[in-house]
Amino acid sequence: MVVKASDIDWNNLGFNYMQLPYRYLAYYRNGKWEKGELTEDPYLHLHEGSPILHYGQGAFEGLKAYRTKDGSVQLFRPDRNAKRLQNSADRLLMPEYPVEDFVNAVKEVVKANEDYVPPYGTGATLYIRPLLIGVGPNIGVKPADEYIFSIFVMPVGPYFKGGLVPTKFVVLDYDRAAHKGTGQSKVGGNYAASLLAGDWAHKHGYSDAIYLDPIEHKYIEEVGSANFFGITKDGKKFLTPKSPSILPSITKYSLLDLAKDRLGLETEETKISIDNLDEFSEAGACGTAAVISPIAGIKYGDNYHVFYSETEVGPITKKLYDELTGIQFGDVEAPKGWIVKV
Ligand code: PLP
Ligand code: COI
Repeated sequence: MVVKASDIDWNNLGFNYMQLPYRYLAYYRNGKWEKGELTEDPYLHLHEGSPILHYGQGAFEGLKAYRTKDGSVQLFRPDRNAKRLQNSADRLLMPEYPVEDFVNAVKEVVKANEDYVPPYGTGATLYIRPLLIGVGPNIGVKPADEYIFSIFVMPVGPYFKGGLVPTKFVVLDYDRAAHKGTGQSKVGGNYAASLLAGDWAHKHGYSDAIYLDPIEHKYIEEVGSANFFGITKDGKKFLTPKSPSILPSITKYSLLDLAKDRLGLETEETKISIDNLDEFSEAGACGTAAVISPIAGIKYGDNYHVFYSETEVGPITKKLYDELTGIQFGDVEAPKGWIVKV
């Protein structure tokens, strides 16, 4: 059932599905994308032979719309999400959805559901979920002939409990993705592979599982559905993992720029050993849903390594958070091209 905007408690939103009035739907048939349109039906009608159902031929994206102080609505680097969806599409032999059409479709859905973009000052945002899936009658392991591109949206609050409050994570004995597999692509299989570890982590009081590299099981890869970053003890460097099986996080690349250009830090994408956490005074998880979530500590085997504090956010993490969210909500000047008005 469609939720009424006037019934929403904007200050107490979690990260949960909510049905809004409109979503966007476009079909790829006979070798080309047809013109998409808004629809009120939250169900997709899929053929039983659809490759998304059997073989996971599908990819998705995640971005947000932000309400600014003057009441307008804006997007953060949507062209990057469009481009990453094209990269995921290439990896799974799906047709690319054009970048400009992606951005226009996002704007159209956000506008149609504008009453649901949370008020400025609540910290909440409108989460946008684009989806590209292979459909139609198939049974062999081969790419589909037909595809659906869809976008639905919902208001959300913090992904990890408490938002800018440190939470703890755990390293488990599971891999998320292989180096030459699909870790760089935002495809469903990576997330299916993470369910078991995530579930164990949640049941044992952790926010999520941390994944190590799948070859040596030594270097940090992902923090659940977010990238990792650490600030070195001298307060001078922002480091983040480099690996072929990590999702290229748009938030992470934005933080690399902001850390360097606005905070004057040295930045590097490099290998980060799980045995060397002592080099950091602060650590965090970053992503669209996670924004910046300070990492209180990491449990690895018998060790529990605490970073800055188990209860307080570190000063550099806080500065990065203020800069990033300031830009996203329109309070801080954005680097050229980062903000797109709806
Ligand atoms: N890593 C994984 C596995 C993710 O699912 C996400 C979420 O999109 C991220 C990192 C963060 O990426 P971004 O900052 O582009 O949202
Ligand atoms: C995002 O940050 O958009 C993500 O993809 C996280 C999501 C899997 C909940």
